Amino acid sequence: MGFFSLVTGRPGASGFGSASTAEQVTEGIDAKNLTAIVTGGASGIGLETAKILALRRAHVIIAARNIGAANKAKQIILEENEKARVDVLILDLCSVKSVRAFVDSFIALDLPLNLLINNAGVMFCPHRLSEDGIEMQFATNHLGHFLLTNLLLEKMKNTAKTTGIEGRIVNLSSIAHVHTYGNGIRFDRINERSGYSDKRAYGQSKLANILHANELSRRLQAEGVNITVNSVHPGIIMTPLMRHSAFLMKTLRFFTFCIWKNVPQGAATTCFVALHPKLKRVTGKYYVDCNEMKPSSYARNEKLAKRLWDFSNKLIDGASSKS
Ligand SMILES: NC(=O)c1ccc[n+]([C@@H]2O[C@H](COP(=O)([O-])OP(=O)(O)OC[C@H]3O[C@@H](n4cnc5c(N)ncnc54)[C@H](OP(=O)(O)O)[C@@H]3O)[C@@H](O)[C@H]2O)c1
Repeated sequence: MGFFSLVTGRPGASGFGSASTAEQVTEGIDAKNLTAIVTGGASGIGLETAKILALRRAHVIIAARNIGAANKAKQIILEENEKARVDVLILDLCSVKSVRAFVDSFIALDLPLNLLINNAGVMFCPHRLSEDGIEMQFATNHLGHFLLTNLLLEKMKNTAKTTGIEGRIVNLSSIAHVHTYGNGIRFDRINERSGYSDKRAYGQSKLANILHANELSRRLQAEGVNITVNSVHPGIIMTPLMRHSAFLMKTLRFFTFCIWKNVPQGAATTCFVALHPKLKRVTGKYYVDCNEMKPSSYARNEKLAKRLWDFSNKLIDGASSKS
């Protein structure tokens, strides 16, 4: 898949391409036996993902920090599809306490869990620390999802084992993962204001999304667990994600309009990787426009992925001991 395919929408080996919508790539798939959590499911790509998973009859849990927006999203889905099974639970990914509370609430519902869509994110925000003292883009985009996934893993393993249905975890990364700091991840200065770049910090967090998916995939394969983990770049789509860079993005879109997608197209790769039978047993891969792509060399670096795993655990231990 090259620039020509991106602009023209020409399908790749999967039969789908940049012009495919989430509805098209999931046509004919029955997900009635599946339960899915979609983080950030109250807006943008997450809302469209929740809508399409529900259209395919999955039970969808929208995990959002803004409960009002999440209830509105639920209403929007129900207005289009009155049979949709949608629930809402509060989750603030930049707070270790909130992630733990979310998992407690989800476990209390006693539902199975087949799909975890790690979609929520923030982009290009000015330097700020989370309540746990961690740089905000890293805390939200990577660390919160890292903890959430770890805490839900036992539930996903049990579901996969008892139902025989493959579990799938999808991490929303970005092509921006290529634009990161010099060594990939600023392990020694993760929270420092000095040298902070809002763009590189976003790239770093999106690199972390791929490294996390790949390392978890290797661990689950070694355990023989029936759960796949993949990462995706959804394309470039005008959503509330652009709020910290609205002028820059609108200007960019003016000059590069032919490579931008609409939201239904933006949710296609996530929904394809989450539901399509062609991806059975496919794990540790990176998808763009519904086709496998090679991510950056940092993203393919196993040592870096292992180091990030240990580092993330240490950050969470530190945050948990303070709260
Ligand atoms: N749009 C693009 O061009 C593009 C390109 C590449 C990758 N992506 C990735 O795609 C994903 C979805 O982005 P989008 O474009 O759909 O943006 P979006 O509409 O802004 O959606 C992001 C969602 O994440 C939620 N969120 C932010 N911080 C959170 C927190 N601390 N806890 C829980 N939820 C939180 C937001 O909630 P609030 O409304 O409360 O902030 C929002 O619902 C992101 O991971 C992004 O990095 C997007």
